Amino acid sequence: MSKNIVVAIDGYSSCGKSTLAKALAKKLHFVYVDSGAMYRAVTLYFLRNLVDITSEKAVAEALVNIHLDFHARDYETHITLNGEEVSNEIRDMKISEMVSPVSALKKVRTEMVNQQQRMGKTANIVMDGRDIGTVVFPQAELKIFMTAEPHIRAQRRKLELLQKGEDLPLEEIVENLRKRDEIDSNRSEGPLKRAFDAIDLDTSFRSMDEQVEFVLEQVRRVQREIK
Ligand code: DC
Repeated sequence: MSKNIVVAIDGYSSCGKSTLAKALAKKLHFVYVDSGAMYRAVTLYFLRNLVDITSEKAVAEALVNIHLDFHARDYETHITLNGEEVSNEIRDMKISEMVSPVSALKKVRTEMVNQQQRMGKTANIVMDGRDIGTVVFPQAELKIFMTAEPHIRAQRRKLELLQKGEDLPLEEIVENLRKRDEIDSNRSEGPLKRAFDAIDLDTSFRSMDEQVEFVLEQVRRVQREIK
């Protein structure tokens, strides 16, 4: 039996991580896992249930009641929270505003990382997030670290929100991305950090096809090496 391959894709918000990860998974017939969707779903539960995130006890009790599931369909992220499909709702701005403080909580991270590691045991996967190459899969066969210019990231996010019918001023989006970068990079648990052995990919001026081709080339190299 050949060894499972894990492709870990980390980087800042709105650099195009999930678009790239999805396209790769589709080409390679790997399972795609959007780890950010998990943190977003937890945040949705916390907001709906008014969980006090300053109370460790309240957070621990809430986590016991959260059951997340992914349903693969056309390599899109379909995530359910306690059986309810929440894939759209987790992209709302109200979630984006709260997700970084929630995902900085130690108990939340421990639980999510455990679940993510279990997923990596059973299949070839492409997983995107912030700590995939550093904490979740430090032994991943391939690690990619994505960056992009701030104004390009903000434009991407604006378009995504517009497609969902949310029209927000660019400045508000820039500010949300800036805040999230700051919290995500400076938290003590699993901060956003480039793994020392990651391959850099600046997506500012590369088309999606170029990005996919670039990473596919790396995957082919890894596949040759582990044969
Ligand atoms: O990838 P995204 O923008 O949907 O992620 C939403 C938030 O979730 C992001 O601001 C930080 C958090 N996150 C994390 O802490 N660790 C991950 N592996 C993935 C996401």
